[in-house]
Amino acid sequence: MRKKIVAGNWKMNLLLDEAKTLHHAVTSNVKENQYGCEVYHFVPSLYITSLLNETNAVAVGAQNGHPSKNGAFTGEISLHQLKKTGVSSVLIGHSERRQQFHESNAFLKEKVNAALAEKMKIFFCCGESLEQRESGDYVRVVIEQLNQSLFHLSSEEMKNVVIAYEPIWAIGTGKTATPEQANEMHIQIRKAVASTYSDEIAENTNILYGGSCNPSNAVELFSQSDIDGGLIGGASLKAEDFISILKAAQ
Ligand code: PGA
Repeated sequence: MRKKIVAGNWKMNLLLDEAKTLHHAVTSNVKENQYGCEVYHFVPSLYITSLLNETNAVAVGAQNGHPSKNGAFTGEISLHQLKKTGVSSVLIGHSERRQQFHESNAFLKEKVNAALAEKMKIFFCCGESLEQRESGDYVRVVIEQLNQSLFHLSSEEMKNVVIAYEPIWAIGTGKTATPEQANEMHIQIRKAVASTYSDEIAENTNILYGGSCNPSNAVELFSQSDIDGGLIGGASLKAEDFISILKAAQ
């Protein structure tokens, strides 16, 4: 049985005090209730050191990291620096990085390799645009993202990877994929993992759904056969909402 995972992606939100208050509220609640899922907060890198010490009931992860260890990359933070600061998980391939920062599948592959070299857990995001969904080509698009950036890994390395399916048309739009639409894609992703690796690796790979997941739709989404939790944007910014989603993952 795969253990569910619920991860908050705070994006570029919250001031430091707000971030500390939110992280503390969720951490205390998780310690008290011991939900049956793993919980992560992907936070702005600036806040990582302030949040890391709170206990590890809620893991603190990075939203991005550069594949080079160091060098002339003004404004960037390397995966190596993140790991040495105590961060063990990272989002790679979020659609906002792909679209607004023009990160290609080839560059994402470099990040995947660098994160694994640092022994970090990778949350690899994939997903199609509205146009690709409407053209009917969406499964091919998503599997190609996996093929080009992820599926060169060995079976052993895949154990450090969580896949997050996030249809771009559902992110921050309030327009959630229906549980059936999401599950259909999760089944296709799992099949692709099985044919590239093995049934065993596919069965053990967590595939999260992301895109306008909230307290009112989480139970139905998480009850689907192949949805193993969620990557939560907007609804992770309020402790109460995020905690409701954790309950839905029980
Ligand atoms: P959303 O964002 O929950 O606000 O749609 C999800 C994400 O971008 O990870």
